[in-house]
Amino acid sequence: MKKALITGITGQDGSYLAELLLEKGYKVYGLRRRTSTPNFENVEQIKNEIEWISGDLADLASLIEAVRLAQPDEVYHLAAQSFVADSWPQPLATGQMTAMGVTNMLEAVRIMKPDARFYQASSSEMFGKVAEIPQKETTPFYPRSPYGVAKVYGHWITVNYRESFNMFACSGILFNHESPRRGLDFVTRKVTDAVARIKLGLQKELRMGNLDALRDWGFAGDYVKAMWLMLQQDEPDDYIIATGETHSVRELLEIAFTRVGLHYEDYVIIDPRYVRPAEVDLLLGDCSKAKAKLGWKLEVGFAELIGRMVDADLERVQRQLKSMPTVV
Ligand code: NAP
Ligand code: GDD
Repeated sequence: MKKALITGITGQDGSYLAELLLEKGYKVYGLRRRTSTPNFENVEQIKNEIEWISGDLADLASLIEAVRLAQPDEVYHLAAQSFVADSWPQPLATGQMTAMGVTNMLEAVRIMKPDARFYQASSSEMFGKVAEIPQKETTPFYPRSPYGVAKVYGHWITVNYRESFNMFACSGILFNHESPRRGLDFVTRKVTDAVARIKLGLQKELRMGNLDALRDWGFAGDYVKAMWLMLQQDEPDDYIIATGETHSVRELLEIAFTRVGLHYEDYVIIDPRYVRPAEVDLLLGDCSKAKAKLGWKLEVGFAELIGRMVDADLERVQRQLKSMPTVV
């Protein structure tokens, strides 16, 4: 039985990846940080199948102990401060988790289990002010946020440990990917949650930032398969994972509101609080290397993804409404 250690297992990607690895017969260890109120929402259905290990990216000792306990064949390093907008008000915490956290995790693996295969969750945000369209593995980085800067560090330290210590370390440069498990702050989920609440009469307006930004949005469930495939190859390498299509935030609004028979112009208000100090205007990935070498393929398209997210939020909000006590 293969063993995998996942950091960030309670997040969107961690939960889909854990399900995939359990299906494949892995023993899955999940690193979880202590929080005053535990949040198992994304992993409730598999909570009892995971070996939980307490640890924090800022605490190297806890990561060394996690690797010692798990003795993993594969380490998927997904934990990070992952919300770009918060990386301006929290640049140091973002640097500590999203950049130095990668070195901490690599060190833990190098010290305790150097033959473990390592996956780093790199990001298309590294391309920032893009040098070419579409972006490929060879496109130079020009990050536009403290988060993007931290991810560039995480990418290069992963490459460096591969080259310095001969570790099987891969960097997956993933473009935006979404699902009903996406955090409520990210734009797709913010929109689909609002659409459900507006449709059910619980919300009157939706305050948004830059509607012209273009993103290459895929489905998280498809993307975690690529992470696994990267660690099954003969040689470690870096890969772009993307859909090869780009859509604006405005298109996202159109699709989501139309799904419930509404017009987004009637509800959306532009609020400068949601406009970023520096924007990534356009992301569009070329994943031909992953298709050719990993045999990876996309299953869920953009409109279907947003439709599924709206439906899931409608169901969830309706359930919440039903469980609320009636006021007499
Ligand atoms: P997410 O939902 O925000 O999950 C982040 C996870 O990291 C959560 O489980 C969180 O735990 C954990 N975490 C944060 N700080 C930690 C710390 N100090 N110690 C231990 N755990 C910590 O993110 P995601 O969307 O699944 O993304 C996974 C990874 O891929 C991230 O590194 C992200 O930057 C990267 N990425 C994401 C995308 C995307 O579009 N989703 C694209 C490219 C790259 P809590 O539950 O306690 O908060
Ligand atoms: N969150 C948010 N909220 N974004 C908005 C809003 C709003 O009200 N209005 C417009 N946007 C625009 C942002 O300015 C950005 O251009 C785009 O919507 C997407 O924002 P997010 O969903 O927050 O994602 P992101 O692209 O900044 O970052 C995500 O993708 C990266 C990969 O490219 C995150 O998942 C990162 O962790 C990931 O690395």
